[in-house]
Amino acid sequence: MTETATGTDWHGWQESWDRQQEWYLPDREERFRVMLDMVEATVGPEPRVLDLACGTGSITDRLLRRLPGATSTGVDLDPALLAIARGYFAGDDRVSFVTADLKDPGWTELLPYDAYDAVLTATALHWLHSEPLTALYGRLAGLVRDGGVFMNADRMKDATTPRINEAERAHRHAAMDRAKEAGALDWARWWDLAAQDPVLAGPTAERFRIYGEHADGDTPSVEWHARTLREAGFGEARAVWSSPADSLILALK
Ligand SMILES: C[S@@+](CC[C@H](N)C(=O)[O-])C[C@H]1O[C@@H](n2cnc3c(N)ncnc32)[C@H](O)[C@@H]1O
Repeated sequence: MTETATGTDWHGWQESWDRQQEWYLPDREERFRVMLDMVEATVGPEPRVLDLACGTGSITDRLLRRLPGATSTGVDLDPALLAIARGYFAGDDRVSFVTADLKDPGWTELLPYDAYDAVLTATALHWLHSEPLTALYGRLAGLVRDGGVFMNADRMKDATTPRINEAERAHRHAAMDRAKEAGALDWARWWDLAAQDPVLAGPTAERFRIYGEHADGDTPSVEWHARTLREAGFGEARAVWSSPADSLILALK
């Protein structure tokens, strides 16, 4: 346990967030590893990174372990996840956090820098519908420096393969059911625990006022993401990793 002056175990919350996300995404760590391989490959070992829709800062955590000379700005709208992120990274001057809504046209003005070597995001942009996501990609093209990268790891559906999709979904859900029986926390139960924590209760109530249970957008295909990123101003874009359910898109400016 690593309790702070508030008595809150930020490392414990960070860990339990990771376990909860892994329940949905068994390949999550492999996805992060490939993402960071490609950061190193394209922009080198000391990048200035924007962790987009950072949640508790899971990407930033892997980034700094792997590339200690990196710096990171985390941006998100969820006050409870940002409280965990701020508590967990307290005292690390390589990291800062910004509260912003990615659907707000002016959100980039809140950032401490006007250009980044890499913008990285995971399991987040499916919260946005295609129209605001297209607008966001346009803004990101203005934020990534020439030669820099954007990467998005998320569920990306191929509507042309419904039987494959259904077989994959049924198999994944059967494993999730088994893990739940063995005690794994799902999204709803994780948030119930956060609401019972004396420090997180207030920000948790606030995040439910902002989002409701969950904001559901679209899960467009890999081809849609690659085409939209090229149209937004990136020079090259393609998947650099895929699992049966998820893909990691890389766009090079
Ligand atoms: C499932 S979490 C993933 C967090 C983190 N990237 C990870 O992999 O653990 C999705 C995140 O997207 C953020 N998000 C969704 N819509 C957003 C918006 N419009 N503006 C800012 N953040 C948003 C949520 O607040 C949440 O932290």
